[in-house]
Amino acid sequence: MAAGERRKILVCRQTFEEVIEALAERFDVEHNQATDAPWSADELRRRLADKDGVLTSGADRVDAAAVADAPRLRAVCNVAVGYNNLDVAALTERGILATNTPGVLDDTTADMAWALMLAAARRISEAERWLRAGNWKGWKNDQFLGVDVHHATLGIVGMGRIGQAMARRAKGFSMRVLYHNRRRCPKQVEKELGARYVTLERLLKESDFVSLNMPYSAESHHLIGAKQIALMKPTAVLVNAARGAIVDDAALVQALKEKCIAAAGLDVYEGEPKFHPGFLELENVALAPHIGSATRATRMKMNLLAVKNLVAALSGRRPPSLLNPDAWPRRRR
Ligand code: DGY
Repeated sequence: MAAGERRKILVCRQTFEEVIEALAERFDVEHNQATDAPWSADELRRRLADKDGVLTSGADRVDAAAVADAPRLRAVCNVAVGYNNLDVAALTERGILATNTPGVLDDTTADMAWALMLAAARRISEAERWLRAGNWKGWKNDQFLGVDVHHATLGIVGMGRIGQAMARRAKGFSMRVLYHNRRRCPKQVEKELGARYVTLERLLKESDFVSLNMPYSAESHHLIGAKQIALMKPTAVLVNAARGAIVDDAALVQALKEKCIAAAGLDVYEGEPKFHPGFLELENVALAPHIGSATRATRMKMNLLAVKNLVAALSGRRPPSLLNPDAWPRRRR
């Protein structure tokens, strides 16, 4: 890089003006503030060709093809904790650092999962649609009867930071908490959370509410399908605020239709922003458009952490949330 030349960075999606301003103090910034339209794979590849770093959203796919013409690219910094949109192995192979935003969105995402759980249990979306349609003629004893969340059993699948935030909330609702995770939590954590480790099968059989809180990977693809749903209670509610493809959505639509389980609350979908059209025909599902971390304060924290990662990477320092430590010794300089 010539003396005095500033590093070039790309910001894939609209972000807060303060974030762009902070970046512009150090870098030449190309952004998407005007339209915020997602770029095609070709467009992204073209824009990355002369960049040193990029801030991506969880919806931007960055794989070997995307970085094929980007010889200067040193860092791909996701503004998301989930990073299944990044081909980390392909980036590592090329010495490109990959980062995410862990820790700053746990409570906000758990709040959203909780909101979906309550909405599905108490039929809030369904009742609101009915009210808005002008159907309400007066109070009735059996109007929109739901199920209690308090004192019920919550099954948390994935006991990472967000799963733990779910368990903490469950205490306030006097719930019994079961969890399943790849690795069992230390005894001290289980005690603090009041959570009991069980097999996935047992969790599905015994829980009144099942909340999915793990990352998406080949291992968690369709972890919940027809067979697993069949194990759940007919009164149970499934909540997914993690990643769409953890659930076989076609199987879930069928199960909700046939009332194999009572309801679901979903923030994420297989192949989003497209989703299974069957969900729209069902009353017993509360739907949200992937807004788990969407509060201003949290999105700001996520953006600022991504900026911190990017600044570190482009200054030769190890980024605080580096996903591919193996890339560090072979990083581009
Ligand atoms: C995340 O951080 O992974 C969220 O899904 C993005 O909103």
